[in-house]
Formats: sequence, structure tokens, C-alpha cells
Amino acid sequence: WKTLDDMDLDGKTVLTRVDINVPVENGRVTDATRLERIKPTIDAILAAGGKPLLLAHFGRPKGKVVDAMSLRQVVPALQQATGHTVQFIETLEGAEEPTAEAKAAEVLLLENIRFHPGEEANDAEFAARLAGLGDVYCNDAFSAAHRAHASTEALARHLPACAGRLMQAELSALEAALATPERPVVAVVGGSKVSSKLDLLGNLVEKVDKLVIGGGMANTFLAAQGLSVGKSLCEHDMADTARQIMVKAGGAGCEILLPADVVVAEEFRAGAAHRTVPAHACPDDAMILDAGPQAVARITAALDTARTLIWNGPLGAFEIEPFDAATNAAAGHAAKRSRDGHLTSVAGGGDTVAALNQAGAAEDFTYISTAGGAFLEWMEGKTLPGVAALGG
Ligand code: 3PG
Repeated sequence: WKTLDDMDLDGKTVLTRVDINVPVENGRVTDATRLERIKPTIDAILAAGGKPLLLAHFGRPKGKVVDAMSLRQVVPALQQATGHTVQFIETLEGAEEPTAEAKAAEVLLLENIRFHPGEEANDAEFAARLAGLGDVYCNDAFSAAHRAHASTEALARHLPACAGRLMQAELSALEAALATPERPVVAVVGGSKVSSKLDLLGNLVEKVDKLVIGGGMANTFLAAQGLSVGKSLCEHDMADTARQIMVKAGGAGCEILLPADVVVAEEFRAGAAHRTVPAHACPDDAMILDAGPQAVARITAALDTARTLIWNGPLGAFEIEPFDAATNAAAGHAAKRSRDGHLTSVAGGGDTVAALNQAGAAEDFTYISTAGGAFLEWMEGKTLPGVAALGG
């Protein structure tokens, strides 16, 4: 695919699809990471003499104007994160007939693109209307690239199209981790449900050397091996599927690491009385809430010989102490190996970044993706419409 460097941007309006779908509480942005990560793209467009007109969604308003989902509330944090003044444009008509103020502004931001039904419908006419607002299309929203929407997909067919800096960085980090990695490759997959990560597990066992399974989904695998998991979160109906994944892993030469010991408690509560037992000895009235120290030792040993790590999902109930211990210890070890230059570590998806931040490990990871669902779909081996539309 083309990058900003391949395009003539001088004097051009660059329709720039960004993902600024950030968490907001009481009108304030609580995590500005996605805003900070689009700065290189905005800077590059400005430096080349172009004017970025940012297109973005916020929440899921389903084609209607929902005041609570206005992108206006993101403007102050966006200005702070990028260091540029941002002129907010309330309507598409306003973008079609810009005011003198908008013409003079450095960066423009159009109101939530999902207020228009044509966006999620990937409507060709709507995309053509958007195309009329600018000269060049730049997609910098990797984290929305799993959606085939007008501003992420169809628009690429209407204008000269290229990938932004964040899109480029995301794709090259993910490729380095899964497509052309240095071996051995270890993947850590945690989280609560096997059912939501079936495609991920199925693809990873074919591509990585070791797969660490943690969190609630490990319980399903333990149960599939005939172990009793007491009151633990467990998808008993997924036992056959879990066994099939283990068979597939065996055939592909991928070693699956399940916890040899587990931390159990009788209630799901911070500070609940707990103890460590072998994985085969979970009492009937207890639930598994974390991996135990032996399990952590096996994970850190695997990381000691690994050259590449893919991390998705916490190993235990990391949101309540002390059941964050395995996640913290394994993430801390991965961070150290990365810092010392032994490991290329890539993390992304859902709760992952929060867990790594909480573990104080995120900074030392080689690459932290801004993507949730798109990270998973890419790791599942799926084609992302927003990437495909760029010809990549
Ligand atoms: C995200 O936050 O993962 C992206 O912005 C995509 O949002 P969506 O799941 O509402 O499409």
C-alpha cells in the first residue's frame, strides 16, 4: 500500500480516517493514547503542506444523532495530545461549505461519522459525498479496519488512498510478531472465554511455538482434560472444541502451556481468602482466579528462550487483588526481556493494555497496539477490509 510519503499533499485537503473512539467519563477523556498516536500522521500531513480533515466515529449511535456521542467532547484532549488547534465541524454540510474560520484552521474534525446511516452501511453514495470533501484519503485507523464502513473501506475507491503513520506502525509490528517473526514465538492468550477466542487459538497454534493459555479460558481446557474446576468460570460445552485445539496444536508442533497450579478462593472479591493448589485439586466449593507460582515459572522460562511474544488477555482476574499476581509477574518478566533486547513483544486487544499498564509493563513492550477487535481479527488471520481497501 501507499504511504503519505508517496502522495502529493501540498495544498490538498487530506481526508484522514482516525480512531479517536476513546474512553470518556463525565465529559473528560480518561485515556488519550489513541489521540497521541495519531499525532505523527497529522504532523506529516501538515509538514507536506496538506490540511487534515479528520473523519472518526465515537461509540455506536447507529446512524442517528446522539448528543452524548458527539465528538465535540474529544476536541480539548485532541488539541492537547496533538499540539494543534482543531476546528470542529458539526455537520457534513458545514464541511461542504467551510467558513472562513474553518478555511484558516490547521486541523479540521468532522462530527461523529456514525451519525449518518451511510457510514456503517458502507454506502457508495455516502462515500462519494465524503470524497467530495477532499483530495486525498489517508486511513490511519487500524483499530477500526475490521469494519467495512464508508470511511474505512468504500472511500478508498473514490480518492487516491494511502496508509497513515499509525496504520503503518501497527501493520509492521503485527507482521513482525506473526508473519515474519524471529523464533521461538510464544503467545499468551488469556481472558474469560474460549468461545470468543476460538479463531484466535486455532490460528495461533499453527503459527507459534508455544501457546500459554490463561484466565477463565484455561479452566475450560483443564475441564476438557477431565479435571474438576469447582465453581470456576468454565464453558463446559466447549470441552470438545478445546480438545480439538489441543489436537491441532500437537499436529502443528505447538506446545500448549496450561497452569500446573492455580490460586483458588471461595468468592470473587478483592482480598478474598485464597490458596494455591495443583490444577487437578480445585475444591468443589472454590473457583480458580489466577495461575499459581509454578505456572508463572513455566511461563517465565518459556519467555527466557523466546525471541518473539504475542500477548492478548490477562492470566487471571487481574482487576481484583491479589488475583493479578500471575499477570503482573509474567508481564513484568516479558517487559524486562524486552528492555534488555532479548524479546520482541507485541500486545493488543480488549483488556490487555489495561492489564499491562496495571502491571507497569506496557512501557517496555516493543509495541502496544491501539486496537481491540481489529488486533484479534488480524491475529486470527482474517483480512481486514480497511487494510485490503488500501491494496495491502
Ligand atoms: C474500537 O474501539 O475497538 C474501535 O474504535 C471500533 O469500535 P466499534 O467496535 O464500535 O466498531
